[in-house]
Amino acid sequence: MTKIGIEKLGFYIPRHYLALSTLAHRNGIDPAKFSRGIGQELIAVPSHDEDIVTLGAEAARPVIDACGTDGIDTVLFATETGIDQSKAAGIYVHGLLGLPANCRCVELKQACYSATAALQMACGHVARKPDRKVLIIASDVSRYDLDSPAEATQGAGAVAMLVSSDPKVLEIDPWTGLFTQDIMDFWRPNYRKTPLVDGKYSALRYLSTMGEAWNDYVSQGGRAYEDLAQFCYHLPFSRMAQKAHRQLALLNKTSVDNEKCLPGMEYNRVIGNCYAASLYLSLISMLENTAADLSGQPVGLFSYGSGAVAEFFSGVVQPGYRDHLMVAHHKALIDERVELSYEDYLTLWHAPDPQDGSAVENPVAARGRYRLAKIDEHKRHYIDAQ
Ligand code: HMG
Repeated sequence: MTKIGIEKLGFYIPRHYLALSTLAHRNGIDPAKFSRGIGQELIAVPSHDEDIVTLGAEAARPVIDACGTDGIDTVLFATETGIDQSKAAGIYVHGLLGLPANCRCVELKQACYSATAALQMACGHVARKPDRKVLIIASDVSRYDLDSPAEATQGAGAVAMLVSSDPKVLEIDPWTGLFTQDIMDFWRPNYRKTPLVDGKYSALRYLSTMGEAWNDYVSQGGRAYEDLAQFCYHLPFSRMAQKAHRQLALLNKTSVDNEKCLPGMEYNRVIGNCYAASLYLSLISMLENTAADLSGQPVGLFSYGSGAVAEFFSGVVQPGYRDHLMVAHHKALIDERVELSYEDYLTLWHAPDPQDGSAVENPVAARGRYRLAKIDEHKRHYIDAQ
């Protein structure tokens, strides 16, 4: 059987962050509510000239530089922060990266879940055409109303993954557990910039749908719970994953081993929710922060997208995987950031969407080589600063 899975993956995050202690101080909240209650420290905040396209292109650039473009015939762009009702954001990225023209590009949406649909579709495509590769980009800006309970769970970032029949990092297992239910826990009508969310209900549905997806995974012949060496969860905030991990242990009538989920939370704690990219940021965090060698070890992944679709699946970490990670690059992206004052955070938050006919004003300078320069005749213009 052809092995299929992730050959290479990387993430990108904005240059600026807000410390949740600043938000706590400003709102008269005990900082421990954020650091312990929801398990978050910092949230990434994009600049005006950063969007899902620039974040996605930045995440994909090192992946493409390392693996080349040969064989890539599909770009799947997973997001719920769309910039256009018609054109797929992935086409801009395709252009910025110089990908082959004989390539299909589409955008996928289902809240935070769509990158998992992209991954499973990519595996199906490569199974049929093992000489082809699929570039998946998950890119989102998580934004909630100011002074709402959800404000502390904002964030932004992108993950790029190359799926091929040479999975140097993670082979994806064939078993997958699915569960879909029509519910209103989190949604964003087209006329709103921020989502509507029933926060506590959403957390309950996250847990109940995980149980359903796990049961389906087991009934499909999936791996035994105790064989999974690490677990990665969709991470709206890291305490959510700790609750999910406890719930899964309970379902399997075993005691909780937090060491099996903590490495996957390290990056998300200091970046925040990046919706479709969140689970895959957790996967990178797990691979880069687990001290033990995971070569040959199966790991479990739980994907949740409000509305709601849940999927539990697994994969096997490949021998030599560490040679294909970008640990130094990722740690530098996290460490070399600039903290925002509360006033600068507000300026960025209140910035109107870029309008037609004007250059994009940028009160705080972004980093990276791809930027949104202007919108002219209703067309977005991106620049490559290199
Ligand atoms: P809240 O009103 O701040 O909740 O909203 P809380 O008052 O219950 O506090 C949260 C926790 O902090 C509680 O712990 C408190 O006890 C604790 P818990 O009972 O849950 O174990 N706490 C403290 N701990 C230490 N020291 C203190 C202290 N004070 C309180 N001093 C909520 C929290 C998550 C509801 C809110 O942030 C929210 O609405 N977030 C957005 C929705 C969300 O993230 N939902 C998660 C599941 S849905 C999902 O993941 C999908 C999503 O990513 C979207 C998509 O799919 O596209 C969101």
